[in-house]
Amino acid sequence: MKPALNLALGASLAALAAAGLASPAAAQGVTVSISCGAVGQELEICRQGAQAWAEETGNTVNVVSTPNSSTERLALYQQLLAAGAGDIDVFQIDVIWPGILAQHFIDLSEHMDGAEADHFEAIVENNTVDGRLVAMPWFTDAGLLYYRRDLLERHGASVPETWEELTETARMIQEAERADGNGQMWGFVFQGRAYEGLTCNALEWVDAFGGGTIVDGDGNVTINNPQALAAFELAATWVGYIAPEGVLNYAEEEARGVFQSGNAVFMRNWPYAWALAEAEDSTIRGNVGVAALPRGGEDGSNTGTLGGWQLAVSRYSAHPEVAADLVRFLTSREEQKRRAIEGAYNPTIAALYEDEDVLAANPFFGDLYDTFVNAVARPSRQTGESYNRVSNEFWNAAHDVLARRAEPAAALQRLEADLNRMSRRGW
Ligand code: GLC
Repeated sequence: MKPALNLALGASLAALAAAGLASPAAAQGVTVSISCGAVGQELEICRQGAQAWAEETGNTVNVVSTPNSSTERLALYQQLLAAGAGDIDVFQIDVIWPGILAQHFIDLSEHMDGAEADHFEAIVENNTVDGRLVAMPWFTDAGLLYYRRDLLERHGASVPETWEELTETARMIQEAERADGNGQMWGFVFQGRAYEGLTCNALEWVDAFGGGTIVDGDGNVTINNPQALAAFELAATWVGYIAPEGVLNYAEEEARGVFQSGNAVFMRNWPYAWALAEAEDSTIRGNVGVAALPRGGEDGSNTGTLGGWQLAVSRYSAHPEVAADLVRFLTSREEQKRRAIEGAYNPTIAALYEDEDVLAANPFFGDLYDTFVNAVARPSRQTGESYNRVSNEFWNAAHDVLARRAEPAAALQRLEADLNRMSRRGW
């Protein structure tokens, strides 16, 4: 029997929140709702997976879209969860949120039949709070360097190995292309808006220079150091020079828009951008290369920030078992394989990095495996519930430096003082 599918595609969490939480229509079987991201093809790919589960089980699923900005998404989730309403059963949550949202989610370990053992241990551990598995890994992320292979070749340049080299190559190609009549060309686009995405970018610069992770594993504020200063001083030269002023308001999709329309040499983005840059309708298809992000100076390291998304079941759900079954299905090996091929979403199951079909669709999953497994984590474990405030201070400092509203040294000093004040009584 074919179940009645009730996929409320147009629905958004913001609309639900505004409408005082409309309840889903009654249906055959059980109806559950899942909140999904909508960056690039994300919503469509989520909907396909949810629909496959609905067909297999005879249940109905509402797919609810969420804002692209992780920062805005968190604010909405907090609003909905604080109200204790069960309208959303399954939440797609960021890798940095288990510590912030754990109390609202059920322990999934009782529902997964041990499936969590197939996933990267570090992510399972990240998602385990006070011994409870509050979310299942869905896909992982790491910051990558995208480049235009054709432009590098045309101008006799190689893929930059350091951030200093990237700055110079970006400038050189941008100037040469403009002199050739390509007036729109920019050297480098990235996520420079004041939000969580900038924290990911700026952490990459700082850690690449050996400047650590803002707060170390013991909870000490370490951000005001000479290596972090070197990173911020280089980044302070970019806006208006190799990056457009607009980058100060770019999130992932704005950066991709510029790169994919052919107007940037380099882009920092997550793996999802690969599937779109290489899609049939992409003007740069066939000309895109992907590499690890550069090192900060010769002695620095190639650093990509660890990102990624998990699925959690609300403790206010009326159907936690059914919701957990949807999570089990969506995080399964088969579904992660489909998502990797369709959308370049990095699996959280190591075995899929050896799967021929996955590697054919995403050759860099193999070449950059180390980048994915060694990605640097934001300090969300050690700062727990305070993480979002820590990140907020950090992205504001980085934004002030990029916009040249603050000198790098002064920005780092102030950031250190603010974070120390915040942590005085422990995080
Ligand atoms: C990506 C990452 C996520 C990060 C966000 C920032 O979605 O997966 O972890 O917080 O970008 O914009």
